[in-house]
Amino acid sequence: MKSNYKIKLLQNSIGKYSYAIFILLLFFISCDQEKGYELELPSHFPTPNIPADNSLTINRINLGKKLFFDPMLSKDTTVSCASCHFPTQAFSDTLPLSRGIHRNLGKRNAPSLLNVAFVPQLFRDGGVPNLEIQVISPLENPNEMGFKLRDAAERLSENDLYQKMSKSAYQREFSPYVLVRALAAYQRTLIGGNSRYDLFQFQNQKDQLSEGEQRGRQLFFNQKTNCSSCHEGVLFTNFAFENNGLHETYKDVGRAGVTMKQLDKFKFRVPSLRNVELTAPYMHDGSFANLEAVIEHYNQGGKQHLQQNPLIRPLYLTEREKADLVAFLKSLTHQN
Ligand code: HEC
Ligand code: HEC
Repeated sequence: MKSNYKIKLLQNSIGKYSYAIFILLLFFISCDQEKGYELELPSHFPTPNIPADNSLTINRINLGKKLFFDPMLSKDTTVSCASCHFPTQAFSDTLPLSRGIHRNLGKRNAPSLLNVAFVPQLFRDGGVPNLEIQVISPLENPNEMGFKLRDAAERLSENDLYQKMSKSAYQREFSPYVLVRALAAYQRTLIGGNSRYDLFQFQNQKDQLSEGEQRGRQLFFNQKTNCSSCHEGVLFTNFAFENNGLHETYKDVGRAGVTMKQLDKFKFRVPSLRNVELTAPYMHDGSFANLEAVIEHYNQGGKQHLQQNPLIRPLYLTEREKADLVAFLKSLTHQN
């Protein structure tokens, strides 16, 4: 009788507490949604800078992803970020120069956004300091989306789903503040570091590269070509601004447009070569259609422009060496 009573008491108290436990569980589940999102970084990659006021959460990333693919961001609702940054091309464009609303032609080739989180100064001239500020540029550029940030935010704030997503991501109504941060958050998750080269170099899987690719790798990291003097390190770029002798005369002043320095004229950011197989056409103006043409350019030692970096000089490569270099570059493609 007595023990029965005890059991009853126990059951009662569980009953009493179960409500509290349920509330606690709910609390943890909702916390879980707001919990910081851990970027999946390959162990040999650096850690990206993430601004304190835009830490990553699932809700922010999901909102940014929806915005990235939404043509409602452009004035005439025909162009989204993905219209020039194709997911299948490592988020680059297939056209030499991108076309925006009314098929207006831009002045540069759209670069890949894979691993954009690591780029210290954005754009080929390094003119934009971070991904949040960057958003304003394609939005307001008349040759891209041609829409004021304020107007785009106002249009989207009329959408109930965006309002709902905005409140759960940033605890506030949809606004320019939310628009730029969510897009930046999404882009920071575009990371690719699982190429065959990565498996070969960092996971010791020596069968990942063919003999030709391994010969190409040796050429690439060798003073015979100097490629890795500029395309260095794990991201295959030192992020410097250089002239690689692309043209005899340039239409675009490049870095000098930002710094106003004579010395920076016709210099462009050294691009990462990760996923370069997918990012044709090449260079700031898309002037080379394929990697064979790029290698031929370097083999000839560039066009001998006055600003050309002296590391670019005739290489006297054999046909086999050229093919090996191309093969190596194609081993840098991220695999899912
Ligand atoms: C009409 C084509 C077009 C559209 C639309 C477009 N972009 Fe771009 N994007 C470009 C071009 C071209 C560049 C290179 C500009 C330069 O370097 O001067 C670029 C550069 C960038 C960069 C810098 C990358 C780097 O490595 O420096 C980021 C980030 C970016 N775009 C994100 C976006 C986002 C986000 C959107 C949507 C809000 C967007 N783009 C819409 C064409 C486009
Ligand atoms: C002096 C520094 C320097 C050296 C050395 C160098 N590059 Fe480059 N590379 C650049 C710059 C700068 C660009 C971008 C130029 C532009 O945008 O017009 C570039 C662009 C490229 C591109 C085009 C990438 C894209 O997405 O458009 C490829 C491919 C490339 N280089 C491969 C190589 C190879 C292979 C070698 C060695 C044979 C090499 N580079 C040597 C500075 C260099």
